[in-house]
Amino acid sequence: MSRKEKIIAAATFLKERFEHHPEIGLILGSGLGILADEIEKPVKIPYQDIPGFPVSTVEGHAGQLVFGTLKGKTVVAMQGRFHYYEGYSLDQVTFPVRVMKELGVEKLIVTNAAGGINESFQPGDLMIITDHINNLGHNPLIGPNDPELGVRFPDMSEAYDKELRQLAKNVARELNIAVQEGVYVANTGPCYETPAEVRMLRIVGGDAVGMSTVPEVIVAKHSGLKVLGISCISNMAAGILDQPLTHDEVIETTEKVKSNFLNLVKTIIEKM
Ligand code: HPA
Repeated sequence: MSRKEKIIAAATFLKERFEHHPEIGLILGSGLGILADEIEKPVKIPYQDIPGFPVSTVEGHAGQLVFGTLKGKTVVAMQGRFHYYEGYSLDQVTFPVRVMKELGVEKLIVTNAAGGINESFQPGDLMIITDHINNLGHNPLIGPNDPELGVRFPDMSEAYDKELRQLAKNVARELNIAVQEGVYVANTGPCYETPAEVRMLRIVGGDAVGMSTVPEVIVAKHSGLKVLGISCISNMAAGILDQPLTHDEVIETTEKVKSNFLNLVKTIIEKM
């Protein structure tokens, strides 16, 4: 099967289970999957049931698509995503984004937990992603390009849509939720960075570092989707505070900012 045929097969399977066109796609990061629990009249489809989908393995990731409505908008959410460090190819990691596009999604909200590199940040901050640095040493578009899916050399000068960023800032102000803005760096993981790596990433212009998002955003741009990215700063990156990093800390912090995160994203969706 060609890549296009695989995408259509997955989309056809999903359309049989949910008849409406989702206009907004959501990718929910570590500890942030709770947003999918707010979706009304949800139709939940485990990844393992969807033709062509890989199966998610990491703790804190439920591994299903949730279709339904949120603040009056038809949405599809990935509750749990696929990471490069799990051993999936970037083609597999980004396959759900291709399928969302095929389902009619026009705008994508991508969320993640990330380590703060910018020393003015604090654990629990929410950061609107202004731009990214692909530090994976790989790119999901490497290989033959299918012109039906997008152009060979996609422009990335506005990977994170300016209007959506402005909307997010306006909503944050209205709701009295403090937000940061900054550049997200994607590393492969799964180990956290060394303090020296964090210093390097700060010098090259990174504000936050994580192990996801960039592949999905590259493919979303290739597909012609508008993207909004939001990081939850779950911890300060290595070497900033005198303490080791743990996945438990990441999950605990996302737990604490849950209500602000939910409020912010739901209100953005309402106004999109
Ligand atoms: N580094 C990389 N990925 C992460 C971090 C971090 O400090 N925190 C959450 N995801």
